[in-house]
Amino acid sequence: MLEFKNVTKKYDGGKPAVNNLNLKIEKGEFVCFIGPSGCGKTTTMKMVNRLINITEGAILVDGKNIKDQDPVELRRSIGYVIQQIGLMPHMTIKENIVLVGTLLKWSKEEKDERAKELLQLVGLPEEYLDKYPHELSGGQQQRIGVLRALAANPPLILMDEPFGALDPITRDSLQEEFKKLQKELNKTIVFVTHDMDEALKLGDRIVIMKEGEVVQADTPDEILKNPANEFVEEFLGKDRLIQGRPDVTTVGQIMESSPVTVQSGTTLKSAISTMRDKHVDSLLVVDIDNVLKGFIDIEAINLNYKKVIEVQEVMEKDLISVSKDSLLRDTVYKILRRGIKYVPVIDEEKKLVGIVTRATLANLVYDTIWGDGMELAEVANLAE
Ligand SMILES: Nc1ncnc2c1ncn2[C@@H]1O[C@H](COP(=O)(O)OP(=O)(O)O)[C@@H](O)[C@H]1O
Ligand SMILES: [Mg+2]
Repeated sequence: MLEFKNVTKKYDGGKPAVNNLNLKIEKGEFVCFIGPSGCGKTTTMKMVNRLINITEGAILVDGKNIKDQDPVELRRSIGYVIQQIGLMPHMTIKENIVLVGTLLKWSKEEKDERAKELLQLVGLPEEYLDKYPHELSGGQQQRIGVLRALAANPPLILMDEPFGALDPITRDSLQEEFKKLQKELNKTIVFVTHDMDEALKLGDRIVIMKEGEVVQADTPDEILKNPANEFVEEFLGKDRLIQGRPDVTTVGQIMESSPVTVQSGTTLKSAISTMRDKHVDSLLVVDIDNVLKGFIDIEAINLNYKKVIEVQEVMEKDLISVSKDSLLRDTVYKILRRGIKYVPVIDEEKKLVGIVTRATLANLVYDTIWGDGMELAEVANLAE
């Protein structure tokens, strides 16, 4: 499907940004590129759709050298999603989704139908087609960015840190949605991230890069079990529970410590601006003393926007929280059993001190938490 053959890129003759890259990606595979900033990930993506010229070597898509293809046509046949969503502010969501269709001169009916069909894939209601980007939360906008890349049904999609600017909760749900979608549609995905949790969760294979070179390219399991060298180990170990870290046992040790909140007396209008500014779909509601009162999500706001004024009138009060001294193991059970995406963490006075998301937990090495008591299969059952 996609093959890199001795691919090297040198900008202005300096040290190569990408050095002798060799890699074969199969149809339907989800490959994550990961590595520190400046290691050549974006350069690699941009060479594939010919936004950057290759210095040496060749890239083949479906066996054909990309340098023999018309760059404009090549780009149309490859979806591209980047972190800066890049929706056109003066176009409606529908127009944004079918932008490529407009370029390809689809009829109005074709465009309408395709836009509706795509919107359904991410579970947004049809009314959204006539909204403008600024009326959507960050997570919703990024979903539209993904749909836009799918519009012309390209078999190959390049994604360069697409969820990097989103908060952990929104990122977690988008990752899950997207992984499902990829399986359903059988797309080949090349996905750049600098977040190892994201790579472990999404990738069928992970390519770890350093200074323009591939350090290890393997399945997540294999990388966890047999990291190629110290560099990989360090990358894996960052903030993560791995075998040999039995010291991590409580929620407080892994929680994210600054969840996005609103006060209960805040107007819905200003809650919406907070969601937009912070790129979140859901806010934890606290009182003036930072005591946790509930949560509110974008759907609840949309339903009630005309009727009610303050957050406390529509917030969901029934939410599960955990204390920061709770055992990690119990919290994981809670999250999996109830199918929730996150739990807020509170102190003795019920004040909000942090949040634990499924994204944080999903890739913990289970051994560390359960010892030898529980098999992975049982955990999977719990999650159903
Ligand atoms: N247009 C450019 N001109 C010169 N050097 C560049 C250019 N783009 C990227 N580089 C250099 O190439 C290397 C790889 O960059 P990049 O592919 O953007 O890395 P990553 O996406 O992994 O952060 C870096 O050292 C960067 O400074
Ligand atoms: Mg980059």
